[in-house]
Amino acid sequence: MSKAHFGLIGLGVMGENLVLNAESKGFSSVVYNRTYSKTESFLKGRGLGRDISGAIDLQDFVNRLERPRRILMMIKAGSATDAVIDQISPFLEEGDLLIDGGNSEFRDTERRVKKLESQSFGYIGMGVSGGAKGALEGPSMMPGGTKASYEAIESLLKKMAAQVEDGPCVTYIGPGGSGHFVKTVHNGIEYGIEQILSEAYDLMRRIGGMTGSEMADVLGHWNKTEELSSYLVEITEICMRTKDTDGGDIIEKIMDKAGQKGTGLWTVLSALELGASVPTIYASLNGRVLSSLKEERLFAESILKGPSIKTFDIGDPSEGMIPLMDAVIVSTIVCYAQGMELMRIASNEYNYSLNMPSIAQIWKGGCIIRSRLLKRIQEAFSADPQLPNLVIDPWFADQVNKRLSNLANVVAGAAQAGVPVPCLSSSLDYINSYRTGRLPQNLVQAMRDCFGSHTYQRVDKEGVFHTDWID
Ligand code: 6PG
Repeated sequence: MSKAHFGLIGLGVMGENLVLNAESKGFSSVVYNRTYSKTESFLKGRGLGRDISGAIDLQDFVNRLERPRRILMMIKAGSATDAVIDQISPFLEEGDLLIDGGNSEFRDTERRVKKLESQSFGYIGMGVSGGAKGALEGPSMMPGGTKASYEAIESLLKKMAAQVEDGPCVTYIGPGGSGHFVKTVHNGIEYGIEQILSEAYDLMRRIGGMTGSEMADVLGHWNKTEELSSYLVEITEICMRTKDTDGGDIIEKIMDKAGQKGTGLWTVLSALELGASVPTIYASLNGRVLSSLKEERLFAESILKGPSIKTFDIGDPSEGMIPLMDAVIVSTIVCYAQGMELMRIASNEYNYSLNMPSIAQIWKGGCIIRSRLLKRIQEAFSADPQLPNLVIDPWFADQVNKRLSNLANVVAGAAQAGVPVPCLSSSLDYINSYRTGRLPQNLVQAMRDCFGSHTYQRVDKEGVFHTDWID
């Protein structure tokens, strides 16, 4: 029996779709799942008639693969990944390659790359984005590890990936855990844009009094613009338009408590550790945390009264609600800017040598945050790979300058009407802070020196100073 080109461990929906994708590109495959009944039902169902066989145990799985073996693990991040690595390692031979396609914490990947490479195996930590459909039809993939390990799977990944006008949505990200780090930041941006669009929905519903179909029409319009055309706007339109069995808007029946699997939290933790400013992403995470306090919120609603103002101008739906659209555009730009900035800082700190234009390029297709803006982001970082912040690139600065007053109007109106807009307001504050040459942190410095002699620098001369402040 000829040996298979590619092996997959973990027949969850992502695993199933990725192996079907690989097989459809000409890579005969073998699959293994902890429970064999799952393997059997896959082979009798979606895997039927495909060049895919099933293994009973890990030894059988490894034996069915050609060398050097290329094995993709699509299993739960954390201890389950370590357990599978420990179970399969005794059967592996020099040069065999394990690829972790789950949403692993990048430091775990860093540790695993070191361990596996020291045993003469290859190890790739690969972010995979695009959900179930992307996995089947072409995801965006962010592989990190040694260059040699990447090269061993490059041709496979390039065929499996989503394709955009300038190539496949996969590239070598960098050493160690860099692939999973970049995927984590991708998810942080994903959290931010999801929350920005949810705030826009809330304003359309509560201030505009609009129905699902009316909101869907506005989103459909936004999705045709260069600034907002994106997968997340596209699916927001679908969520707004979809009806429940009783004919009402399904969105209104969904419980307003958002869960999370960890990547948004890791983005914020990394940013805090690295001293990167990501307030829009943090606001989206905090939005999920507060949303989970459903019972407390319901109780507080009966005690804490909001302002009496009930409405303000968020725009005319027949014109695409320009003030609201501007607010969403600036906040979305700011969200990408914060993610890119975090990656730039992390790249220097962790010696990842991240290629920012390439990362923007592989996010243009397949992944959840794919959008037309990414072409502009790619161009901005191609023009200046060390661009300190996306918002000072000429095209993005022009967008911010044209639209900032509308973001301010929407945030001010929402504040007066008592509607929470944490991502929109964080984005506004971020821009206002970033564009202010003199911030009030001189007073922070003065206070620190006053109570703790922490010293300060001056704007008018070099050196380190202390004042004997009058008690
Ligand atoms: C993707 C997604 C995916 C992620 C989910 C859930 O790029 O395909 O980022 O990997 O796991 O979106 O994330 P949360 O449950 O944390 O929202």
